[in-house]
Amino acid sequence: MKTNVNIDWNNLGFDYMKTDLRYVSIWKDGNWDAGNLVEDNNITISEASTAIHYGQQCFEGLKAYRTKDGKIQLFRPDENAKRINRSCNRILMPEIPVEKFIDACIQVVKANEAYVPPYGTGATLYLRPYVIGIGDNLGVRTAPEFLFGIFCCPVGAYFKGGMSPVNFMISEEFDRAAPHGTGAAKVGGNYAASLLAHVQAVEKGFADCIYLDPATHTKIEEVGAANFFGITNDDVFVTPKSPSILASITKYSLLHVAKEYLGLKTEERDVLINNLSEFKEAGACGTAAVISPIGGIEYKNELHVFHSETEVGPVTTKLYNTLYGIQFGDVEAPKGWIVEVK
Ligand SMILES: Cc1ncc(COP(=O)(O)O)c(C=O)c1O
Repeated sequence: MKTNVNIDWNNLGFDYMKTDLRYVSIWKDGNWDAGNLVEDNNITISEASTAIHYGQQCFEGLKAYRTKDGKIQLFRPDENAKRINRSCNRILMPEIPVEKFIDACIQVVKANEAYVPPYGTGATLYLRPYVIGIGDNLGVRTAPEFLFGIFCCPVGAYFKGGMSPVNFMISEEFDRAAPHGTGAAKVGGNYAASLLAHVQAVEKGFADCIYLDPATHTKIEEVGAANFFGITNDDVFVTPKSPSILASITKYSLLHVAKEYLGLKTEERDVLINNLSEFKEAGACGTAAVISPIGGIEYKNELHVFHSETEVGPVTTKLYNTLYGIQFGDVEAPKGWIVEVK
């Protein structure tokens, strides 16, 4: 294992970097093999793999954090394991035992320990687990074999100079998911479908687009590749409930933090695009940023501004500081949320 790597931790972005070792396990004849760490960052698969032709693949994203006393910890990896299994079930791929998933994450972090950024930089080691259908196959059917892999890359702090709000636009032209489609699964097709909408939103000067519910286009679903939350004028933490939203682990963690740490009421329910004035603050949440405060949302050529386009609201700030503190080990975590890598 490398003991020293020459990385400018304070100027890392969110980019691929080849690290030393990655985990690979193969499913064949009804079972996963034991899995092992490999040096090669290329995988060779059949040209007829279902992952290539029929989108039979899914993935996850989680981080390893360096604490003040130099330890390394994972944040709720069991939730990523359960979610990858829900994704696998939706597209007929075999589940991965939760212990195998967590053990593989730990193996990858340990093998690449030199790439875990120091405490205080805000940088982390991002883990990318994935499952793909492989093997020789031509017709539209589930694959004969599967590959479960995890690689990791150090990634920079999302906000280099502290949190700052960004604006989003409502996507009226494109949907991210169908009413009974795969919106709740973390499958690549959802992301392929979002690429054009994202580029067009950025060209118009927005951070990304917000997707409405595909059936009625009246309710907020996802904010780019993150979940939405709003703080009502009477301090209720509200987040949308819908079967076509990806269940964000950050969102469920914030629901808990809002209730148990900040003493707020919480609700999972419809968020109507025509009723944004019920919120004094709003944000997008996900593993990448924890929270991206939403300055304003443009809908039908009008920009609705929440707290401010330049300042972050006080409730959003408290939510962010608490969850960020839990992830880096500065705030006591609820039981079972932290897995130490040792
Ligand atoms: C579509 C989508 N929604 C929400 C999220 C946020 O989920 P999490 O908080 O588990 O990172 C992600 C990122 O994984 C995502 O891709």
